[in-house]
Amino acid sequence: MNKVKIAVLVSGGGTNLQALIDSQKSGVLESGEIALVVSNNKNAYALERAKKANIKTVTFLKSELGSQEAFEKAIVDSLEENGIELIVLAGFMSILSENFTKKYDRRIINVHPSLIPSFCGKGFYGLTVHEKALEKGVKVTGATVHFVNEIPDGGEIIMQKAVEVMPGDTPSTLQKRVMEEAEWIILPASAEKVSKSILKERV
Ligand code: GAR
Repeated sequence: MNKVKIAVLVSGGGTNLQALIDSQKSGVLESGEIALVVSNNKNAYALERAKKANIKTVTFLKSELGSQEAFEKAIVDSLEENGIELIVLAGFMSILSENFTKKYDRRIINVHPSLIPSFCGKGFYGLTVHEKALEKGVKVTGATVHFVNEIPDGGEIIMQKAVEVMPGDTPSTLQKRVMEEAEWIILPASAEKVSKSILKERV
């Protein structure tokens, strides 16, 4: 059976994209294949990672396209042209409209660097999430992979993994541990889980 075609949406360094690429090689991700990488940042290092792995890339800038609507239309056209069935948000720092998320109901997953419902929602992204966790003094944090709906970080949870906060942690050291111990494991595992269920629906 043909594998589920996956698009990974990125904005930055792309370490989660790299984890997905590696999981495809190791066999953790076997029901789906990364067919497209979409970036909203021309300088995202994630684009280099995709090119090294021979994965097709496209970049769309809201500033060039003029509106959220035009930006999302460009993404949708590209997803359709490439037969994409599953969208993975891997450090994609742009909120998608309800129009977009409704079109891809239970077909978009996102990795968030905290244990939802803590430290999530509007304004909580990247390093800020770890800053807030340290400010609060939590002793345990982690990562969550969830389906994406119209509420930022509000969709059904697919997987979570806890990570210990260590004395002396800075936002950067905590971010690194959360990525290594949680994000890079549960994102590929969730992509496989959802791809497998899409394959089952096909028969
Ligand atoms: C990751 O920590 C990801 O969880 C976070 O941005 C980072 C991207 O790193 N995403 C969010 O905060 C989304 N709300 P990467 O580009 O190296 O994968």
